[in-house]
This record gives sequence, C-alpha cells and structure tokens, in this order.
Amino acid sequence: MSSVSPTVARPSAGPGDGALLQTRRLSVSFPTAVGPVAVVDEVDVTIRTGRTLGLIGESGSGKTMLANALIGLLPDAAVVGGEILFRGEDLAAVPAARRRAVRGREISMVFQDPLSALNPTQRIWKQISEIPRRDGASRADARRLALDRLAEAGVPEPAQRLDVFPHQLSGGLRQRVMIALALAGEPELLLADEPTTALDVTVQARILALLKRLQEERHMSMLLVSHDLRVVSHVAHDLVVMYAGRVCEAGPASTVIGRPAHPYTRALTRSIPSVHQKKALPSPLPGAPASPYARPSGCAFNPRCPIAQDICREVVPPVREVAPDRTVACHFAEEVLG
Ligand SMILES: Nc1ncnc2c1ncn2[C@@H]1O[C@H](COP(=O)(O)OP(=O)(O)OP(=O)(O)O)[C@@H](O)[C@H]1O
Ligand SMILES: [Mg+2]
Repeated sequence: MSSVSPTVARPSAGPGDGALLQTRRLSVSFPTAVGPVAVVDEVDVTIRTGRTLGLIGESGSGKTMLANALIGLLPDAAVVGGEILFRGEDLAAVPAARRRAVRGREISMVFQDPLSALNPTQRIWKQISEIPRRDGASRADARRLALDRLAEAGVPEPAQRLDVFPHQLSGGLRQRVMIALALAGEPELLLADEPTTALDVTVQARILALLKRLQEERHMSMLLVSHDLRVVSHVAHDLVVMYAGRVCEAGPASTVIGRPAHPYTRALTRSIPSVHQKKALPSPLPGAPASPYARPSGCAFNPRCPIAQDICREVVPPVREVAPDRTVACHFAEEVLG
C-alpha cells in the first residue's frame, strides 16, 4: 500500500452533513468479581450521512465492542448503557426484534475474518441473496441480484462464482463476497471491523479502495475500524481515537492527523512512514496498551505519556472541545497543539 504523509489533503465533510448515527455516553460493561468494568466508557461518536468515520486505537481499546454495540451483536454478558441514536431512534432501548430487523438492512457489517462470518456449507449466491429471498424474490431474481452484487464488489467472473462455497475462494475474494453480502440489504450504514487485517498488503489496498468507492457511489455512511492509522487516513473523513475504552480525540481526519491534540494521537501519527520509507517506523510509544480491566488512575494513557504531570495521574481528563468540531481528552491539549 502506498503511504501518505500526515499533511496530505483529504476530503472533509461540509457543515451541512447531518448525523446518521450518534452515540451518547455509550458504555459496554462486563461483570467482574469487583463490579462491572466498562470496556467502552461513555463514548460519544457521530457517523455522518454519506461520510466515513475512522475508529482507531490499539488492541483492546474497545473498537470491536463499540462497533458490535451499534449493530446489536454483543456477548450475552455485556451490559449496554447510554444511547445509540440511529436517525433519532435509540437502538440501545428498542426490543431485540427491532435490532434484528435493522441488522443487515439499515446497518450491516463486514468482519475481519470472512471465513468465520460466511456459512461454509452454503453456496455464495444463496448467502448473498438471503434478504431478497426472504422478501419474496424468485430464484432467478435472487441469482441475478447476487451476480450484480458480486460484480459491484469487484469479483472477477462473477457468474462462475455464484455456485462456489467460501473455502474455494482466496482470502481477498472471500472478503469481496462478504462485502457483496453486506451490501445485499442496501444498508445506509456499513460497519467494517478491521476488514483488511487478515489480508496481504496489495490485497488490503484493493479492498480499501473498493470500500471507499462503494461508500462514495452509494452515498453510504461507513465506520472503518482499524488499529492502523495509515489504513484509516486514506479513507476516513472523520476520525475517533480510542484508548482503554475511552475517546482520546475526535474530529475531521485531516486536521486530527495533520495537527493532533492528544499525545497518543501524536505518537500514532509519528509511526506513519513517510513516502520514502518502505516500512513503518518502530512504534515511538514504549509500554503496553492499558487494559480497561487495569485502568491507570487519572488519564489511562499517563504511564506512557511523555508530557504527563501529577494532574494526569489523578484526574480523568474530560472530553472537551478545543476547536469547532474537534474534541480531545487531555489536560494539556493546547500544549500539544502548540
Ligand atoms: N466477552 C468478553 N467478556 C469480557 N471482556 C471482553 C469480552 N470481549 C472482549 N472483552 C474485553 O473488552 C476490551 C475491548 O475489546 P475489543 O475486542 O473491543 O478491543 P479492540 O479494540 O477491538 O481490539 P483489537 O484491535 O485486538 O481487535 C478488551 O479489554 C477485551 O479483553
Ligand atoms: Mg477488534
């Protein structure tokens, strides 16, 4: 994949772009012997109509739990708090049947591992056309629709793929089938959780380009989850950075990457290789990511932060607005901004 310098201009959303989905103080907690632990902790995110929100953070920061909460696919033990406003309807409060009705139609998801998400025993045309067939489409119409979706997802020779099983396809093709399936219900919002992590680098770039094209052509909204800022920087209009279950920073992708306001984001941007470097720089961030199960007091990032002061070890930094459309949770954001 080609790399970008942090200053590359990216599309930015105009002021008129409204929210399609908005979380308010969303939390996902698990019971433990010492009480509930929030792995997503009072998170506010906004996914705008026809725009892509990139969600980044290290392993364990709560990205998957957040995405799964939006589509109602959390483990049974998880307890959800706060609101998930989708076109004004709070999906955190509706009956499970309503959440199931939304899933696959209004909101759908592309998973990291298509092999575990696809049915191994069913031919792919049947999987792709499940929703239209449930809606009464004839077999011929359903096959035609599956063919269209495969073609749209860039599957070469789609007519020859209709009757194969997932294991007969390469990893990249399987991910294209997963995308075709996710699009079958004509969703307004596509959630993509690390959709390219399992693929090799050239295939990754093609799948990302496909997602970007589909988002634009269909004027869909998209949530692109990744631990890799490079991946997100090519595709996202807006960005949310999470650390140990909380938001560090959010705003338009180009300004967050070009001028980070949180030391964690700044460290992530420094690990993006320049155009002349083939490999990513070694992470400038020493230390291990904080777990929500052993969250440091004050700012969870303080043990790894180069500018931490006493207040950072004692007081949780509130999420605050540092510029129009830009929020950050750092006591020293103004210093980071310079
Ligand atoms: N079923 C579960 N029960 C309890 N805790 C869980 C469960 N699943 C995940 N967690 C915890 O929730 C936290 C967030 O996990 P999550 O999978 O959302 O992280 P992530 O940001 O997606 O990480 P990765 O980049 O590795 O995919 C982690 O501390 C994880 O250990
Ligand atoms: Mg994950």
